[in-house]
Amino acid sequence: MMIKLILDAQEVETKADELLIDLLLRKDFKIPCVCYHHQLGPIQTCDTCIVEVNGQLGRACATKVSSGMQVQTKSARADAAQREAFDRLLKDHMLYCTVCDNNNGNCTMHNTTKMLAVDHQKIPFTQKPYEVDATNPFYRYDPDQCVLCGRCVEACQNVEVNETLSINWEDPHPRVLWDGGKPIGESSCVSCGHCVTVCPCNALMEKSMLGEAGYMSGLPKPALNGMIDIIKGIEPDMGYRSILKVSEAESAMRESRTRKTKTVCTYCGVGCSFDVWTRDRHILKIEPEEGPTNGISTCVKGKFGWDFVNSSDRLTSPLIREGDKFRKASWEEALTLVAQQFTEIKAKNGPDALAFISSSKCTNEESYLMQKLARAVIGTNNMDNCSRYCQAPATEGLFRTVGYGGDSGSIRDIENAGMVLIIGSNTAEAHPVLATRVKQAHKLRGQKLVVADLRKHEMAERADLFFQPKPGTDIAWLCAITRYILDNGLEKTEFLDQWVNGLDEYYKSLEPFTLEFAAKTCGLTVELLKQVAHMIVEANGVCILWAMGITQHSMGSDSSTAISNLLLVTGNYMRTGTGAYPLRGHNNVQGAGDHGAHPENLTGYQNVHDPEVRARFEAAWKVSLPSTKGLDNFQMIEAIHAGKLKAMYLFGEEIALVDGNSNHVESALSKLEFFVAQDVFFSKTCQFANVIFPASPSLEKEGTFTSTERRIQRLYQVFEPLEGSRPDWRIIQDLANHLGAKWNYQHPSEIYQEIASLTPLFAGVTYERLEGYKSLQWPVAADGNDEPLLYVKRFPFPDGKARLHPVAMSIPTEPADEEFDLHFNNGCMLEHFHEGNMTYRAPGIREKVPHAFLEVSPELAAERGIQSGTWVQLISPYGKLRVRALVTDRVQGKELYMPMNSFESPVNLLTSSHTDTVTHTPAYKESSVRMVVLPEIGESPLPKVNSRFGHPTPQSGVEVERKWKRADYEMPKGEPVQAAAKRN
Ligand code: SF4
Ligand code: SF4
Ligand code: SF4
Ligand code: FES
Repeated sequence: MMIKLILDAQEVETKADELLIDLLLRKDFKIPCVCYHHQLGPIQTCDTCIVEVNGQLGRACATKVSSGMQVQTKSARADAAQREAFDRLLKDHMLYCTVCDNNNGNCTMHNTTKMLAVDHQKIPFTQKPYEVDATNPFYRYDPDQCVLCGRCVEACQNVEVNETLSINWEDPHPRVLWDGGKPIGESSCVSCGHCVTVCPCNALMEKSMLGEAGYMSGLPKPALNGMIDIIKGIEPDMGYRSILKVSEAESAMRESRTRKTKTVCTYCGVGCSFDVWTRDRHILKIEPEEGPTNGISTCVKGKFGWDFVNSSDRLTSPLIREGDKFRKASWEEALTLVAQQFTEIKAKNGPDALAFISSSKCTNEESYLMQKLARAVIGTNNMDNCSRYCQAPATEGLFRTVGYGGDSGSIRDIENAGMVLIIGSNTAEAHPVLATRVKQAHKLRGQKLVVADLRKHEMAERADLFFQPKPGTDIAWLCAITRYILDNGLEKTEFLDQWVNGLDEYYKSLEPFTLEFAAKTCGLTVELLKQVAHMIVEANGVCILWAMGITQHSMGSDSSTAISNLLLVTGNYMRTGTGAYPLRGHNNVQGAGDHGAHPENLTGYQNVHDPEVRARFEAAWKVSLPSTKGLDNFQMIEAIHAGKLKAMYLFGEEIALVDGNSNHVESALSKLEFFVAQDVFFSKTCQFANVIFPASPSLEKEGTFTSTERRIQRLYQVFEPLEGSRPDWRIIQDLANHLGAKWNYQHPSEIYQEIASLTPLFAGVTYERLEGYKSLQWPVAADGNDEPLLYVKRFPFPDGKARLHPVAMSIPTEPADEEFDLHFNNGCMLEHFHEGNMTYRAPGIREKVPHAFLEVSPELAAERGIQSGTWVQLISPYGKLRVRALVTDRVQGKELYMPMNSFESPVNLLTSSHTDTVTHTPAYKESSVRMVVLPEIGESPLPKVNSRFGHPTPQSGVEVERKWKRADYEMPKGEPVQAAAKRN
């Protein structure tokens, strides 16, 4: 509904219920507002936004517009109140802008001083009795510059929902507190950086900015203090307005050397985007604000995990093996050698003797070129990517039931759910920013949260209901509660009648899945299963989130199918707040499969068996294409052992560490006649190569990534490729041309034009439509319309209906027995990404997590005489490793858990070659080991500075009411404090 109101004598029409501050800012009224941030909402701590509303003073940020409202933003009383409020803030903030690293044109304190044309303070600046806290490796807090606006507290409490920050409003000298008063480095702070991002001044700053952003801010401390003293000395005579002119000239000079480039995070599949501020090759900071997925949010990796880009370990020259060593080679020599070897091997053994592995860290365009190289230049469908290691079963489960292999909606749809069910996903650590939205909805809007997992991780701690099924038994309880719902007439009959096929056959398949069977199989109770079933049917919309705890099993595809079946039976598709959300691991694991890095599919899941599809690609590529399904990653390893596969080209993929049963994989790689690896670093996999091509990471190239929401986003080049390295798409093109292809792509946009022209799913994707922070969620029609929420009108099957797909019970491989008596679970962690090739090169992250560790339950620790720091040896039928124990109640009984980030002790030394029966995803989660307790005892492998050891202080937000109760607080009355200067 639209309403009309009067703003400073102008009639304005706007939407009812809008916040007055939003309207004023949108209409470009010059109104101070220090604590307000549109992504945080009203905090009401600063009082600078006071205006006259119908003759009364009130905070614009706390006022909803209403019809006929009369607002005066610059009346004498409003102006005086705003000035008084701002003067109080200046008591807490010294204006030394010229030598401040935050003087970059976007400092709220600076800009408000300028807007109000403040010359002199009524209340003098007063130091607080606290030291600067620099104990976090990534940012520091300066209490003396802190204006107590509380934005950081609100961000930490209610956006990140880590609940570390508060303000001691009752103290004579309030300040921001971490865990109620701990040094930052010893608190529960997870270094997500939300607080730093929203701080309106320099009180919280990235350490990477300090001494680097300004021309004079890097002066030695005594000189800097001298400059600050000079500024203070001249202020009484000159006034701030003159001083600000100098600082603005300095700020303008910074613009010529500070670059701000939009990129998309290179780590997980959430798809956060942000500006990278750089000065030459130095990263000043990561500045999130307008990302369609993340807004102001990041996690520690996206905000602070970029040191690897400038690491001295970067590969800067092609390398060619000579015996046991590598020698540097020119690009021409290396490319010629690879082309010659590939040609010879193909001539001798046929094209299927070669295989290609694309990277789910690299761009869509690069995956497309890799599969084009395999298919059109070599002539094989032996093409895969690492979604085989995690996500293929989820994709299969969704293809079987609802038709698209992607999340059914956006993160916003998850926020809108009445209930979120998380199964086998440590979401707060593996997909941190997505988890913040669930934590918010749970904390602030009463969303129900149910978690099924082996480990009691953060989401489990927060859940309304948490249960721990026995390893590998999820399919049993999922099918049993679905049967219970159908048995008791609790299903959504109308939805099933109208939108779903196959109910009768499916219902019959559920026969073995009684609640009693599931309870016994899973180690749960019948009552608990009934409770879960009732929570699902009673919720106003259910979203199910799952990840590797489901997919990395021998029945991963069937368990994923069971999840989708449950959603169909309960009518939880086709509207916001419902649906299936397999959480994609790598930044572009969705995009790599989408863009043809798959043994059976060309781009957009167009099948190689389909003659019409092949004919279209053959016409465009002017070649004839192979029509038989190629080998997937797992089959490639077996084919090498069988002597059928002779050569492999792999880029951006650490197969030697991340595939199951590492010893088996490594022995395969060493049997290859010719192996080409392409990476940013000399990875473990590179050790087996004949030729290594040095590639450029995401910050050194352009292209697109597709996040877990099916969201396609552009990344722009932040740095030139490090000398000697090349972007992957260029290397693939160079190699194709050495093989006679005559490709001539000058820019990734040209590659995407070709993709769009061949792929109905991406028909309307263009770089123009993705410019800046714009994004598209596939499918994208030719006119550019996309589908953030899938299945709104129909399911993509010929009759528009979804399909219930029967699944049978199966038991996990490698159950614990007398010899291997402990279940060995493994997965992600917050600070490190995957095997750690990038994050171990960030010193700050290493400070928080220097080593891998093994989680051991308190019961098992007591039984075996283990303490945190005890070295143990784990032995499985496939290998062994040494690691230090960390005793924690995150695991229970005979469960062990080890994060996958270790070079010295990679978890896959212990895992088997068993796979999901449908997709060949390794059954990483089905491993059993025995443990030998070694005599050595070291330090705890996880230092005390890790956030896990902190003690958060949850509260509703910044709790401004406590400030208002202070004896020395009264709301500004709007009495002139000085002859008001003309505002800017
Ligand atoms: S967790 Fe730490 S970095 Fe993140 S908002 Fe809270 S205090 Fe700031
Ligand atoms: S540190 Fe927090 S309270 Fe202080 S100025 Fe920054 S955002 Fe505001
Ligand atoms: S949540 Fe994922 S995409 Fe976002 S900043 Fe963290 S690692 Fe990057
Ligand atoms: S912006 Fe309204 S009180 Fe701070």
